[in-house]
Amino acid sequence: MAFLETCDLATLKLRKKMKKTIRDTPVLLIHHEEKVYALSDRCPHRKASLYKGGFKDGIITCAAHGAEIDIKTGAIVKNPKITFFSVKVPAAKTYAVKIQDGKVFIDL
Ligand code: FES
Repeated sequence: MAFLETCDLATLKLRKKMKKTIRDTPVLLIHHEEKVYALSDRCPHRKASLYKGGFKDGIITCAAHGAEIDIKTGAIVKNPKITFFSVKVPAAKTYAVKIQDGKVFIDL
C-alpha cells in the first residue's frame, strides 16, 4: 500500500468533511478535534454514501438505515434498522492518514 494525496488540509478544515474518489475507491475524509480521519465512503450495510449522513461527536450516521459508525475505528456503534429489525454489519474500512506540507495523504 502507499500513501496517496487526497486534498488540502486547509480546505478540509473549512468544510469539515469531504468525499474523494482515489484510484476508484470512494473515501470520506473528516476533520474532527484537530485530527483527520479517513474511511470508506460506502456504508458496510448496503453501500450508501456515508458523506450524506449526519456527523456528531465522532460518529457518522448513515442516512439510509441509521447505522452509526465510529470514524476513528470504523466500528459499528449502532446497527442499522430495516423496519423493526436490527441488522448486524461488519466494521467500516478505515485508512491511515498522514499530513505533509499542508496536504492530506491516506494509505490506500
Ligand atoms: S446502507 Fe447504511 S445503514 Fe443501510
